[in-house]
Amino acid sequence: MDLEFIYKRHSVRQFTEEQVPEQTIKELIKAATYAPSGKNQQNWHFVVITNKKKIAEIARIVERKNAELCTYLCDETKIKGLKGSLPYQTVFKAAPVLILVYAGPYYTIADMLLADGIMSREEAIKYANPNPGIQNIAAALENLLLAAASLGYGTCWMTGPTHAAEDISAYIGFNKEGYQLAAMTPLGIPAADKVSVPPRKPVEDVLTFIS
Ligand SMILES: Cc1cc2nc3c(=O)[nH]c(=O)nc-3n(C[C@H](O)[C@H](O)[C@H](O)COP(=O)(O)O)c2cc1C
Repeated sequence: MDLEFIYKRHSVRQFTEEQVPEQTIKELIKAATYAPSGKNQQNWHFVVITNKKKIAEIARIVERKNAELCTYLCDETKIKGLKGSLPYQTVFKAAPVLILVYAGPYYTIADMLLADGIMSREEAIKYANPNPGIQNIAAALENLLLAAASLGYGTCWMTGPTHAAEDISAYIGFNKEGYQLAAMTPLGIPAADKVSVPPRKPVEDVLTFIS
């Protein structure tokens, strides 16, 4: 079985300065849009930033938000943890391209039940747990990551910086009714040949066959 295109992808956190051609970026976004989506709603929007200064400023916005959130915490261990995660929230800062993935509205059965006033919010929310709207975004982003890897580019799925979502959107001036920043990925040529391959749980631990 040739699943090399799956095993080739790894999270890449350091990039060379080499630019990515606009045509390649467009092709990757097209690959993302060929992901399946509930009711074919395609409730995604991609914002591509190639301006180095803007990418660096977005990293600074994330740093400031991280520092602000630390001031709300009282527990020293939690503060240390949040501060310690900052490098993982800003791995895109020196990448040649940053792709922001926005999630738009997706009407679920929970919304329908709530709208009809059939049940309480607490009860209805259970029907929203599978969150198909966000599953659509995840499917698209994974397509993008796999397509990029197959073309020799590095990416890193990131949700860490989304705590600064509002500030980032305000800074870049992106505003689409009902759309919120769900994730992002840097894109570029990996800086080193050496990749880290975090271990996986054995398949037996995460698989149940029922016959
Ligand atoms: C939903 C999600 C959020 C993630 N957020 C971050 C992040 O903010 N920063 C980061 O460096 N990596 C992030 N990652 C990457 C994971 O750390 C990585 O996928 C995992 O360790 C497995 O490594 P691999 O991608 O190289 O296979 C995220 C991955 C996912 C799926």
